[in-house]
Amino acid sequence: MDQVDKIKTPDFSHITSEDLNHIYEPSEDSFLLIDALEKDLGFIRKREPSMCLEVGTGSGIVITALGSVLGPLCRYMGTDINPRACSVTQETGRINGVSIETVCTDLVSEVIDRVKGTVDVLLFNPPYVVTPSEEVGQGDLEYTWAGGVKGREVLDRILPSVDLLLSQKGLFYLLVLKENDPEEIVSVMDSRGFSCECIMRRRTGPENLLVLRFCRKRNQ
Ligand SMILES: C[S@@+](CC[C@H](N)C(=O)[O-])C[C@H]1O[C@@H](n2cnc3c(N)ncnc32)[C@H](O)[C@@H]1O
Repeated sequence: MDQVDKIKTPDFSHITSEDLNHIYEPSEDSFLLIDALEKDLGFIRKREPSMCLEVGTGSGIVITALGSVLGPLCRYMGTDINPRACSVTQETGRINGVSIETVCTDLVSEVIDRVKGTVDVLLFNPPYVVTPSEEVGQGDLEYTWAGGVKGREVLDRILPSVDLLLSQKGLFYLLVLKENDPEEIVSVMDSRGFSCECIMRRRTGPENLLVLRFCRKRNQ
């Protein structure tokens, strides 16, 4: 496979308006994460990743975008709490030539034993909007955006698993909002042995979005 430096936006024309009543429509945050991966592609490739896991795939556009440039030597797995998102992700992968195993589960609970210590690229664009706690997990669409207090109630739950999931050379890309208090997330991860770099930031309407990349301090 020829190495390309640009990530083409995957074809997602198969997604119907009925799908979008249940799953996250690819949006500015999805495209920002893809742009950050494109910017970091050289860094990712140098690590010769063989396993990529996206948590909360939604339409599958992000993992498919990465898979379309890394190619079939890497394995792709995605989880989502919403079964419809899992099937749309598989279809997005299929029509763009990327084979993705999907697992319907809360974060990584059904896959962690299988992929422990093997994940070279971990991706998460979480439900990050600041909402009352009661709105978290109230339905398919609420799952996509409702983040509870500081927008952190879902994303905070993945942080303790990052050390377990990542391989020694593993990278974790996390999309956050300024209101999520990125400095505090960086400090939590620092205490767990991870350094952080902000790969990209963008203001879209009222949202200040950032993509953070974590890697093990001893393996930068
Ligand atoms: C902001 S959307 C991102 C979707 C897609 N990754 C993208 O960037 O377009 C968040 C996704 O996380 C999923 N999600 C929310 N809570 C989850 C949980 N506890 N476990 C797994 N997936 C979850 C939602 O269903 C939704 O698909």
